Amino acid sequence: MATSPSSPGSETVRHPFLQGLSKHRGAPPTIIVIFGASGDLTARKLIPAVYNLAYDNLLPADFFLIGFGRKHIPDVEFRKLAASAVKEFSRRELKSEVWNRVAAHTSYCSGEYDDKAAFKKLKAQIDKLEQQVGREMQTLFYISTPPSVFKPILQNLGSSGLAGRHTGKGHQSKVVIEKPFGQDLATAQQLNATLAAVFSEPQVYRIDHYLGKETVQDLLVQRFANAIFEPLWNRNFIDSVQITVGEDLGVGSRAGYYEESGCLRDMIQNHTMQLLALTAMEPPVSLDAEGIRDEKVKVLRAIQPLTLGPAGDVARAQYAEGLTGGKPVPGYLEEKGINPQSATETYAAIRLSINNWRWQGVPFYLRSGKRLPRRVSEIAIQFKRPPGTLFAAEDGRFDLAANTLSFQIQPDEGLSLILNGKIPGLETRMQPVKMSFRYATTFGSNTPEAYERLVLDAMIGDSTLFIRGDETEASWKLYTPVLDFWRGQGRAGMDSYAAGSWGPLSADALLAKNSHVWRQP
Ligand code: NDP
Ligand code: BG6
Repeated sequence: MATSPSSPGSETVRHPFLQGLSKHRGAPPTIIVIFGASGDLTARKLIPAVYNLAYDNLLPADFFLIGFGRKHIPDVEFRKLAASAVKEFSRRELKSEVWNRVAAHTSYCSGEYDDKAAFKKLKAQIDKLEQQVGREMQTLFYISTPPSVFKPILQNLGSSGLAGRHTGKGHQSKVVIEKPFGQDLATAQQLNATLAAVFSEPQVYRIDHYLGKETVQDLLVQRFANAIFEPLWNRNFIDSVQITVGEDLGVGSRAGYYEESGCLRDMIQNHTMQLLALTAMEPPVSLDAEGIRDEKVKVLRAIQPLTLGPAGDVARAQYAEGLTGGKPVPGYLEEKGINPQSATETYAAIRLSINNWRWQGVPFYLRSGKRLPRRVSEIAIQFKRPPGTLFAAEDGRFDLAANTLSFQIQPDEGLSLILNGKIPGLETRMQPVKMSFRYATTFGSNTPEAYERLVLDAMIGDSTLFIRGDETEASWKLYTPVLDFWRGQGRAGMDSYAAGSWGPLSADALLAKNSHVWRQP
């Protein structure tokens, strides 16, 4: 069970699946430094998360935020940018009395990520804040840049002494590192080695924000707190599993990051694989960080290597021009900052087999893409059909719907089950009917964003919802041959799909082999 100071030196923090954010009050005095502070993630998620934590009085009394980036941005300008980010992206409107508390403790430091002098300057800024407050504080370094600069940042945190500032409990430096963790297996291993040279493992928080989503945590509760699912949760009853993480957004302002990443690295290797691991793993011996991570890594290692080439297990594509929300949008190759000859995929679909006792023979289908018809993430468990003898039509056809249990991760968070029901009337006619549970209806809709929970967990020292080094390596082991193969192919075999459609024909072909079709979530 993870323990850490909840109010200094007192309450024990239990694992986050059982405990709400309010129990996390009392994070130690903290300075958060965000690298990549002018970026999309900082504006869209990190600043709003800090604001909402302040709104809920979950930040420590001594809390400071330093943005770090290459551009020169005066403090006052950075605060303005941060306020606009809250206005645009926060789940709650900007209240000046809350924001002013954060803004008064927010500053900026500019410099190159590979420049030692810039880190000296950052250290001086941090030391000054501690002198001002008159006590030691923990420093949480949040690396929110493209992965290509993770390494120099870590090395400079080490050589400048920032990584090992204080050793006292609650005052240590910590590092939160964004996904994708590396570019492939070799770079992930190197990154793990670089991290280990600079930080000890308890200081490291490899983030995958899907683990902070309420509905993803609910998946474990549904699986292991209800007796009805476990007996059915295996190859005897489940026919196939589909995991979809779709977005209507295009590449937006993130051309620099996305061109070096692509959908497989950006979404499949991490977010969809975490969803798969939680769906397919064995019951953990306990709900603490290691219990869950041990089971996730076991199931990731049981996945069979993917077949590549024609009729293989993977499909990739780029969006072409089309319609989003009824408006015309350009294709990926015409987007600002994108190489017109780019071989970066904006969509990927995968067919996986898990070679273990529970799942042998059950295909798992994963897909993710930009410029799909809408933003939707779901896990759909399709059950085997019942024997058809009783309800076969006169021509012998058997057309009962398969029972499907789907977890809607977002939006409209909830759970639904498709059953076959009798249409009222004198004849015996059937129709699929849906039983649903919706978070918003049952609990209200203003639940914390994933980043609120995760930033707070990192401040407090609870790593349950973060990724262990061997997990990310197991996932890269599966996908590195795919990336190598695609690199060798260049643009050959790159399919396309119209923006606003559900993806390319080659993705349909992956399922057709088993007479399956993609759901329209
Ligand atoms: P951005 O493309 O917005 O880049 C973030 C910042 O990194 C930029 O503002 C820039 O800061 C710096 N940067 C960009 N390109 C380079 C480069 N080639 N060399 C050095 N620095 C560069 O990316 P995001 O903010 O979208 O993503 C950052 C990380 O967060 C990624 O690892 C991504 O996977 C992850 N992430 C993003 C999410 C999102 O919704 N955007 C969600 C979840 C995770 P400056 O110029 O100030 O130095
Ligand atoms: C990030 C990706 O990890 O997740 C982005 O880098 C993507 O490309 C984002 O847009 C999606 O997150 P969410 O929480 O909006 O589904």
